[in-house]
Amino acid sequence: SEAGGVKDFAFSFEGPFGRFDQQQLRRGFQVYREVCSACHGLKFVPIRSLADEGGPQMDPQWVRDYAAELDPVIDADTQEERPRKDTDFFPIRVGDGMGPDLSLMAKARAGFHGPYGTGISQLFNGIGGPEYIHSLLNGFTGADKQEAGNTFYENHIFSTGWIKMPPPLSDDIVTYEDGTPATVEQMSEDVATFLMWTAEPKMMARKDMGFTAVLMLGLLTVLLYLTNKRIWAPHK
Ligand code: HEM
Repeated sequence: SEAGGVKDFAFSFEGPFGRFDQQQLRRGFQVYREVCSACHGLKFVPIRSLADEGGPQMDPQWVRDYAAELDPVIDADTQEERPRKDTDFFPIRVGDGMGPDLSLMAKARAGFHGPYGTGISQLFNGIGGPEYIHSLLNGFTGADKQEAGNTFYENHIFSTGWIKMPPPLSDDIVTYEDGTPATVEQMSEDVATFLMWTAEPKMMARKDMGFTAVLMLGLLTVLLYLTNKRIWAPHK
């Protein structure tokens, strides 16, 4: 069965002129760092990209210090363990109780399918990856069950209705550095935005480029129209 009940949500980054909100990316990163990273890696995300333009734009020195606090790595050249650097990727999380890597999750899941699985709503609302994450984190009913030695938590957004992830968020589980009230709604919106950024860090550059391309093609259309008129004018 497919995920049901995912609601469309107006994220700031949607639409041709959508932008990531830097404060929101910082809040979402804080949620990832303090909550999700216990069980989920971001193995495709270079730590230094946290300082990039268009992203959370954390201070580069802060990013270097943060990298050094993460799990050490085995250096590819020396095969010896050394502290993690900002040029390395985020740690991976594998093993008992750990969840899937979240680097590309916002693009790996679809929130909208219908009607009748035709994907028509995706045409208007987008694929719905960030909406899926947002809804999933708000989709716990509070019920759980034991099965084959595992605990499953009821969540109607998850495909099977029962997920092995314990509800990760509760009000004020983080204290936002920018003073925003940390409700479950707010944190899940923020972390879904952060995960959209990890999945597509160059989204804003892509949109800017697309806009420029459309402008140039429009100009070209006008010029070609006028050229055509002029070429054929003597023969009419
Ligand atoms: C699965 C997000 C925190 C353990 C997932 C999935 C997402 C997600 C999107 C994939 C669901 C799917 O396959 O469609 C998050 C976020 C977190 C968070 C954004 C922080 C706010 C945690 C924590 C734990 C955890 C703290 C461990 C205590 C798991 C596990 C799964 C999972 C075990 C696999 C569930 C299954 O396949 O049944 N999580 N997670 N997650 N997560 Fe999390």
